[in-house]
Amino acid sequence: MSLPVLTVCAALGRQGAGVVSAFTSEASPQYHVRALTSNPESAAARELASKPNVSVVKVDLHSLDSVVAAFEGSTLIFANTVFPPDVFVKDGAAKAEEAEASHGLNIARAAAKTSSLKHLIWSTLPDVLSETGGKLNIPHFQSKIPAERYILEHESGLANKTTFLRLGLYGSVIERPTYTPVKVDAANARLLILPIDPDAVFPFIGDETFNTGLLAKAIFSQPDKTTGTYVNGTIEAVTGRRWASNLEKAAKAHGKDVRIVFLQSTLSGFEQLWGATGTEIGIMFQFWNDYSEHSYDISTAGRVVLTPRDLGVADQLRGNEDAMVQFL
Ligand SMILES: *[C@@H]1O[C@H](CO)[C@@H](O)[C@H](O)[C@H]1NC(C)=O
Ligand SMILES: *[C@@H]1O[C@H](CO)[C@@H](O)[C@H](O)[C@H]1NC(C)=O
Ligand SMILES: *[C@@H]1O[C@H](CO)[C@@H](O)[C@H](O)[C@H]1NC(C)=O
Repeated sequence: MSLPVLTVCAALGRQGAGVVSAFTSEASPQYHVRALTSNPESAAARELASKPNVSVVKVDLHSLDSVVAAFEGSTLIFANTVFPPDVFVKDGAAKAEEAEASHGLNIARAAAKTSSLKHLIWSTLPDVLSETGGKLNIPHFQSKIPAERYILEHESGLANKTTFLRLGLYGSVIERPTYTPVKVDAANARLLILPIDPDAVFPFIGDETFNTGLLAKAIFSQPDKTTGTYVNGTIEAVTGRRWASNLEKAAKAHGKDVRIVFLQSTLSGFEQLWGATGTEIGIMFQFWNDYSEHSYDISTAGRVVLTPRDLGVADQLRGNEDAMVQFL
């Protein structure tokens, strides 16, 4: 008998790869994993295709027909979209938002047409623009919202088959220049510079790939509890200070004697330093600064918000400070 199909969008991305890995590392597979990618010829895609109980399928997220065909026969779907970095750099945040939103809408529309579908995970983020009455606009958050609304409003009851997963800040961002602590030789220190109060907490997911796989597995295996809900996909609420100290501890454990000091910048200073990327990231930190531990409780359509503890996996979530030491 053939296995039911779990389809994973952006299967080679930070989130998708974790879901594929969580489901293919089982001793006795319960699902055939259909890994969707725009580039099945890449080395990573070919390696994935060589694994048992996995097929790699090309999808064009610009085309509803392509997504519908890729979803056909799926029992479970894990869907995440990407704020396309090339569009962001070339044409700006609004165009990148538009592109990601259209990919998400094609996914939501195709999911609604997939009659075999039992459970969808839509990886999303809060609708900060509506919540703040238009004051804070984070394009890489808003790009998830049209699909979320479509799912919530679709008359087929798609929302009741969906878990809305909100992941926190990836621990791996340390490798990106805007986050990498800056060396100050004279002080024998590195500065983690972000536009947020040193004591304000923000949602953090640590090792985003492993943890997304763990959460997706916990969500899909408890449908009675998780369908129609939001999941607060965070490992902890960290502060800038705490993050700096966690990184410093990891560095010391690896024999690197560095001090890491958190330094709050203003939003405008951060923008001046990093340009459009500074605005994109800076406004997100402004939101976390203002909403702190409530950042992921907002705009949940009155639905239940579950935590990793509710899903029984809080103790298995992983940090990735050790892997970040090379960037310190
Ligand atoms: C998984 O793949 C292996 C290797 O191709 C195959 O022998 C096995 O039957 C597959 N498992 C299931 C349950 O289909
Ligand atoms: C979805 O679930 C809600 C809450 O349980 C219920 O009120 C609603 O009727 C359901 N919608 C559909 C279309 O099944
Ligand atoms: C989500 O989790 C974070 C900790 O990771 C916590 O600070 C926050 O209060 C939680 N929010 C909800 C709605 O449970």
